[in-house]
This record gives sequence, C-alpha cells and structure tokens, in this order.
Amino acid sequence: MEQDKKKWSGRFNEPVSELVERYTASVGFDYKLAEYDIQGSLAHAHMLAAAGIISGSDLADIERGLEQIRDEIHNHQFDWQVAREDVHLNIEHRLTALVGDAGKRLHTARSRNDQVATDIRLYLRAASDEIISLIRALQQALLELAEQHADTIMPGFTHLQVAQPVTFGHHLLAYFEMLQRDAQRLQDGRKRINQLPLGAAALAGTSYPIDREAVARELEFDGICRNSLDAVSDRDFAIEFCACAALIMMHLSRLSEELILWMSPSFGFIELADRFCTGSSIMPQKKNPDVPELVRGKTGRINGHLVALLTLMKSQPLAYNKDNQEDKEPLFDTVDTLKDTLRIYADMMTGVKVNQTTMRQAALRGYATATDLADYLVRKGMPFRDAHEIVAKVVRAAEDKQCDLSALSLPELKQFSAVIEADVFAILTLEGSVQSRNHSGGTAPAQVRQAIERARSSITE
Ligand code: ARG
Repeated sequence: MEQDKKKWSGRFNEPVSELVERYTASVGFDYKLAEYDIQGSLAHAHMLAAAGIISGSDLADIERGLEQIRDEIHNHQFDWQVAREDVHLNIEHRLTALVGDAGKRLHTARSRNDQVATDIRLYLRAASDEIISLIRALQQALLELAEQHADTIMPGFTHLQVAQPVTFGHHLLAYFEMLQRDAQRLQDGRKRINQLPLGAAALAGTSYPIDREAVARELEFDGICRNSLDAVSDRDFAIEFCACAALIMMHLSRLSEELILWMSPSFGFIELADRFCTGSSIMPQKKNPDVPELVRGKTGRINGHLVALLTLMKSQPLAYNKDNQEDKEPLFDTVDTLKDTLRIYADMMTGVKVNQTTMRQAALRGYATATDLADYLVRKGMPFRDAHEIVAKVVRAAEDKQCDLSALSLPELKQFSAVIEADVFAILTLEGSVQSRNHSGGTAPAQVRQAIERARSSITE
C-alpha cells in the first residue's frame, strides 16, 4: 500500500506513513473553512488578474472551477481526501482537476500560511456577527420578562442570605447589562479580526506586484495586516474571541445557577417550560433543569478552549508553525457551543413562569427591610451605627415572635427607640422598600421601567 502513495514532492525520497498522514491532516475539521477559503481564493484571483499576474482566461477558469467546487461541497458531493491534508489542498487539487493549469496558477503569490490566517479571520468575523445578534435576541427575551416583572418582589441576596428586597425585573436587567458588555467586547474584537493577512505569503511577503488593498476591499476587511511575519503567525484575535466567549459563558453559568436554585422546590420561585427539563428514571416526582445545568457544565469546556489556545501560542517563535493547525478545533467548538447556548437561552427565558407569591414570602421571611428601618432612624437624626445596633435588636424580637418587622406593633417598636412613629410602617413593607430606591441604577419599579426603555433603544439603534 505504502508504495502506491505519493511523495510530498520531488524533494522527498519516501511518502509519509499512514499514521503521519492521519496525524498531520486537518481536513477532518478544517473543511468547515471551505466557504471562506473559496471567497479568499476568488478575491486573490481577481487581484492576480487585475495586476496582470495571471491571464483573464485563467481567471475565468478559476472562477468557474471554484463555483463548481462550492456547489459540490454544498451538495455533499465533494470528495474530501485525508491524503490531501487540509481544506486548502483539497480544494486546489480539485480545481486543478477541473480546470487544469489555471488551477495550478491560483497559488501564485500566496502561501497556505496567509491563506489559512485569512480563512480563520473570515470565519470568526461571521461568527462574531452571528453571536452578537444571538446576544441581542437573548437580551430582548430578558427585557420582555423584566417588563412583566417590574413590580414583582423577590429577596435580593448577598452571601446567598436574604439581604434586601429587589424587583425581579431589576434582577433580570443585571444580566442584560452583562450581555451588553459581552456584545461590546465582541464588536471591539471584530476590528482586530477584520484585518487582511493575504499578501504576507509564507512569511516575508511576495516578489509579485500584488495589490493587498484591493483584496481587502473585496473581502470587506477594514484594513491589511501591517507586518507579514505577524500576519501569518499570531492568533491573538482568536484568543481574544475565546476570551469573549468565556466571559459570555461565565455570565450564562451564573444565570443558570440561579435558575437551578430558583427552580428547586426549596426555593420554588420559577418554573422552566417542560421542553427544557427531563425527568428521573427512578424518581417520578423529579423535573430536572438539564439545560441550565449543561450550560453551567459547558462553561468549563469553553474556558478549556481559551486556555488551550493561549498555551498553543505561548513561546512559538516567529513566524508560522504547524502548531497553529491546532487552533481550529477549540475555536470551532467554542463558536458552535456558544451559538447553541445563546439560542436555547433566548427560548428558555421566554418560557419562564414566575411564582410571585413564593418570591414575596421568601423576601418576608428574611427581614429584608431591616436596612430600611435603620435608614428611617438615621432620617430621624440617629447616627447610622447606633441605628444598626437598634435594628439588630428589633430583628431579634421579631425572630422570637416569629413575625415580620412590619407585624410588630407601634408600642413594641417604640420600646427600641422613642423616635419611631406610625409613619415607619410605610417603609417596613417590601413595596415601600423597593420604591424608596428610586434613583438611576436602583431597584424601584419606576426605575426598572425607565431602564427597560433605555435598554430597548440601546439594542435597536
Ligand atoms: N492546515 C494548515 C493550518 O491549519 C494550513 C497551513 C499550513 N502551512 C504549512 N506551511 N504547512 O495551519
């Protein structure tokens, strides 16, 4: 068998072994770059013809051949061969089979090094745009739910202990803000992705009279990579993308954790639609929040991909090294996982059912208005530290009576401080508490409604 195999070129005495062939091939995964590889090749060929480096008839052959290859790939008729190593050589080989010498001329003034760097940038640019619009869809879903629950009261937590009452709408808007920064980060990273490597060739540039700006324009890059060695070797833009992805997943894993807690019968704050949950094969009563749990779990794998790429790039000498072929699988998996996660999340948040009574009960159980009572005493002239101590004693008394602060009578409250009057009850209620936090960024329902307005216009402009 080995004897039938072809040597890499006339420089070699023997072909690679089958194991080496399999070990070094990337076509099993980089076939995903095919569409971008074709776009890049077409732009390169147009430039070669315009510069007089190839003839008009070669260009016509190349265009015809690449269009056919695009169809074949689209219709799953393309014969991918591991022996042809990667997506670039598979396409070039097929092109030559289809159009002859013109196919062999396509690689003039180009190397697979600048070719693959271009392909990945085109791929990541499209992925960034898609992910930004998926973030927008999730943000919309959060805004809708927040709007329905601008007045819904829940306990706000610190240390997972009841802290102060907040509105559920306000809580959801916190995630809107996180996603807003996530989208901004992707948008910003896109500028660094969107620079053209082609023209760098293997590492040093090329001796042909190429027009890199024209290629950049055709492929809608914002500009060209300024240094050929840097252009073919660095993958910092991909690492940056993975860092953005890891932050998004980190945010979604926090929301997932909350959904999981809120859905547990011990909390009972929400229900997720059945289509996002599964049952247990042994415990008939169970409804498990599989989707948020998997989002939490997949966050680990996205973090892993980020670390994989950082480690891959670390200590590589200039310029291109084959190590970089290993950038693709982590990158592709990051994009696929993130897209699916965002899609599923937007749908899941639309189907969240809120148990308002349970949320309210939970806020009442934890003396969530204790700070409001302290603030009340301060408004009556007491130093905050003294007020804090007095309220601690009031809470103890309420605990002994097993009732909420607002259920204590005025005479009872007055035993702790003579400055307490009947107007205290307005601030001891949950509603009074949230309404009093009426400044921008605060939890008051009026503020939540304004924040939703602002948020809506920020994502549609
Ligand atoms: N498959 C390679 C990669 O993904 C393409 C570039 C190969 N360049 C080379 N000089 N062997 O990085």
